[in-house]
Amino acid sequence: MAEPSASTDEITVDVRRASGDGADADLEAAVRSGLVAHLKELPPKYFYDELGSELFEQITELPEYYPTRAERSILELHSSEIVAAADAQCLVELGSGSASKTRTLLEAMRRAGSLRTYVPVDISEEITRQTATELVREFPGLRVHGVICDIENDLERLPGWGQRRMIAFLGGTVGNFARAPRRLLLQRIASLLGPADTLLLGTDLVKDRSLLEAAYNDAAGVTDRFNKNVLSVLNRQLGADFDLDRFEHFAFYDADEERIEMRLRSLADQSVKITGLDMTVAFADGEEMRTELSHKFTLPSLEGLYASAGLQLVEVWTDPDGLFALSLARPV
Ligand code: TRP
Repeated sequence: MAEPSASTDEITVDVRRASGDGADADLEAAVRSGLVAHLKELPPKYFYDELGSELFEQITELPEYYPTRAERSILELHSSEIVAAADAQCLVELGSGSASKTRTLLEAMRRAGSLRTYVPVDISEEITRQTATELVREFPGLRVHGVICDIENDLERLPGWGQRRMIAFLGGTVGNFARAPRRLLLQRIASLLGPADTLLLGTDLVKDRSLLEAAYNDAAGVTDRFNKNVLSVLNRQLGADFDLDRFEHFAFYDADEERIEMRLRSLADQSVKITGLDMTVAFADGEEMRTELSHKFTLPSLEGLYASAGLQLVEVWTDPDGLFALSLARPV
């Protein structure tokens, strides 16, 4: 399955899964079952086509959306401590994208004299190649081995070259998984860790409802466009005819579940044809469809998450306002 293709001496890319816009059995199955559920639901990982990724970049710069800035400030303030605690030679990053926050970690590893290898793992081949090219230029001597895969399906053995590794999973993405798949994903990540390896996990923290809800309902309406973009993805990939103007975005905090729910609300009685699935879906006026969950954590829930995956918390760092956490864990 793997098709390694060397671009330069320092960069190799292992494509485990073709990226791009082709029909996708996962997408079809998830949309089909999601749209016949009592509360309709769409799978979140399809937000990130080219426009979706661009809109998410804009979200990260919104005044209300604190997680990205908070996580960056933790890295800026504490990366030397993180790197000292992890003592790794190889940084593996799940969902690396443009690796904008990762540079801080790589720099700290370089200062510590331990940096050898960076392994970006991402679903998008283009951005990974671009990031790899930039990084070998910025970090002379760094070896970059990109792995193109869906971390939920194709995360098999990652190369280690016998080096001590830190696997970073940043951005709070782990919170976008429901409880059961989240535990499975962490167990799978845990199974990749040797005794000297660590996991660095970014998680958003439970906080005041008003701050949380503002972060997911920005005044400029970027989140609205981002959320509705998933409908465009279905229009293009599955031949659906969602009218984006007949849905509106909203998000709310569920304090019992400690999570934000992103939803789209139908603004009319309407039926949507999905040619690729040979189905028609009826929406009532005001009917809501869930598009994403974003779980928020506390120290106890984080410890519980690690325990359920056979991991043990080593250390937690937060930003000065206590909004977001980066935590380091190792196998029990
Ligand atoms: N991973 C992001 C988060 O949970 C995703 C996100 C931010 C998102 N804003 C959104 C998803 C709006 C859907 C709609 O913070």
